[in-house]
Amino acid sequence: MKLCVALDLHSAKENLAIVEKLSGIDLWFKIGLRSFIRDGWKFVDQTRRVSGAPIFLDLKLHDIPNTTADAAAEIADRGIEMFNIHASAGTKAMEAAMNRLHGLSRRPIVLAVTALTSFDNTEFMAIYNSPIEKSAIDMAKLASGAGLDGVVCSAHESAAIKTAVSDRFLTLCPGVRFNGGGDDQSRVATPEIAKEQKADFIVVGRPILSAPDPRAIARSLAHGL
Ligand code: C5P
Repeated sequence: MKLCVALDLHSAKENLAIVEKLSGIDLWFKIGLRSFIRDGWKFVDQTRRVSGAPIFLDLKLHDIPNTTADAAAEIADRGIEMFNIHASAGTKAMEAAMNRLHGLSRRPIVLAVTALTSFDNTEFMAIYNSPIEKSAIDMAKLASGAGLDGVVCSAHESAAIKTAVSDRFLTLCPGVRFNGGGDDQSRVATPEIAKEQKADFIVVGRPILSAPDPRAIARSLAHGL
């Protein structure tokens, strides 16, 4: 299991200070909406220059097939190691993206977002009219059928998804908390549970970013996983 640290801080300067603080630890960095919208590709390049760690671009593409495929091609062109597409964009959008990436000498890992870890079952039901675990498994099957490499899901769905699809199908799990408190996350799990549930990646943001010693936590997580 790999650690992926979410760079979600208030400024590029603060994010880059964390990147520097965590240098030399075997991990990935996740650049998501806040940082990308504010600081763009310049920040992606700066992160690479400071750390050399692989980058997960968490933009959660959700659009019609042609637009999704165009965006996927632009992301791949920048040498990003991993990005994601909402499974709810549909099979055609996911397939269009994978077809566009087909034939590249090195393509990024592509994950499908299943059910956001902030959803509880009631909120999810109100939108999708189906229980979370069933939908997450159904979405994972669609993503696998479309040729994607894995899914974003909570640790609680990870093992069931692997049983339904394949052990080699990747699961990346946000919503990691050490002691229960979840902020806006609902389906939280400790790193130990994520490991038991066979997660390939855990994404950790605030529990590392707001810790008194982020390097100590990241190191113990990266080494213990
Ligand atoms: O601070 P925290 O550990 O909750 O950060 C989790 C990160 O993972 C955030 O950047 C959030 O956008 C992202 N994420 C998530 N749930 C998903 C996909 C991404 O929490 N399903």
